[in-house]
Amino acid sequence: MSKFVINGGKRLAGKINVSGSKTAALPILFATMIIRGVSVIYNLPDIRDVRVSLSILRSFGAKISSQCGATFIDTSELFYTVPDEELVSSIRASSYLLGASLSRFKKTRIRSFGGCNFDNRPIDMHIDAMRSLGARCDGDRISCDRLVGSDIHFKKISVGATVNAIILAASAEGVTRIFNYAREPHVLSLVDFLVSAGANITLFDDFIQIAGAELHGGEVSIIPDMIEVGTYLIASIATDSRLEICGGCHGHLDSLYKSLMYGGVSLYFDEKTVKNCCSLTEYIEIETAPYPGFPTDLQPLMAPLLANSCGGVIREGVWHARFGYLSELSGFGVKYELSSDAAAIFPSRLVCAKATATDLRGGAALLVAALVASGESIIESSETVGRGYENIAKKLRAVGADIIEI
Ligand code: EPU
Repeated sequence: MSKFVINGGKRLAGKINVSGSKTAALPILFATMIIRGVSVIYNLPDIRDVRVSLSILRSFGAKISSQCGATFIDTSELFYTVPDEELVSSIRASSYLLGASLSRFKKTRIRSFGGCNFDNRPIDMHIDAMRSLGARCDGDRISCDRLVGSDIHFKKISVGATVNAIILAASAEGVTRIFNYAREPHVLSLVDFLVSAGANITLFDDFIQIAGAELHGGEVSIIPDMIEVGTYLIASIATDSRLEICGGCHGHLDSLYKSLMYGGVSLYFDEKTVKNCCSLTEYIEIETAPYPGFPTDLQPLMAPLLANSCGGVIREGVWHARFGYLSELSGFGVKYELSSDAAAIFPSRLVCAKATATDLRGGAALLVAALVASGESIIESSETVGRGYENIAKKLRAVGADIIEI
């Protein structure tokens, strides 16, 4: 286990470049399994979840190499395997094997898919999607003779179930329509990649239409990580700093920008840069929702920011129990009151502390608190944060933070 040691209370200044998006990269990596050919992926972030995904792909026989910022994934000749339990259970994106392995090998297994355990994470809609296209379930084993396009109506918006449905339908026989689908930029990015590989996908307001096709190698550049943009912007505002966050895509984060501006923050936008010129001065309320709503993955980051200003309310509309990180934040002096799916955050004086990152975004929230609080803070289990942020300590050091990872 590694840890961050942070000497907080310092103002930050300068530019931070944003890396490729974790949530865009992972579906694309698993989608290469339904392709026969070589796919080229640019701007792949060097984060733990990506490294684990590449190891899983290698265990199926994928040949992977990198050169000049491009990753080449040759999935021409794969073989069926049951990948290592430890790898599968360490990331949530291994659940994309449901669609990818069923599509390529006509069989797959329900495993103990990992990732952050901030809430119960059901896969009933993934299974419904597989069944709709003709899969049979026998205990944890899922198989089919062929996959045949069909209508899929999701009862709720789910990124993961939409990704698996797209992966299944892209090379199935006939036409699939996916209703009530997730519209996150990373889902659209998966569509772009598959289209580059020969998939026949059209987006309508109410549904995605996919006519199954034979796929060849595709090419894509991973979109900038909007959660990373939000994380550094929030850290900048919380520490009363003036960071420039470069390389993001502004349209993806409108909900965050609106909330911050409502709270009195002035934001300036250049073509691909966002910077703040003042801090939060008002009490604000946010409510998370599927895209284009306020991203659930940014709500933990808002807690130390609200605590260090005028307070506010966080309502969680995606993962109702996603407030476990607050007990670790309380060590930093963050005062809060929890109700069933909301947390009231009270203005608090943040102090340095020792805490443990129990999930990715909760860990990043501890980091923001540690940057704000004067004195030495220690955050154990820094590798949990490294699952989704590329070189976070190095990037923060470059803008003046006193942080090391040991
Ligand atoms: N849901 C069901 N049944 C299902 C699937 C989901 O009821 O079969 C429910 C969930 O319980 C939840 C809601 O649908 O209430 C949304 O879950 P979703 O399926 O969208 O989440 P996910 O695909 O498992 C991805 C990201 C998460 C992010 C969510 C929401 C990955 C690997 N994970 O999870 O990212 O919070 O979408 O945007 O892409 C993170 O990066 O820290 C992270 C947790």
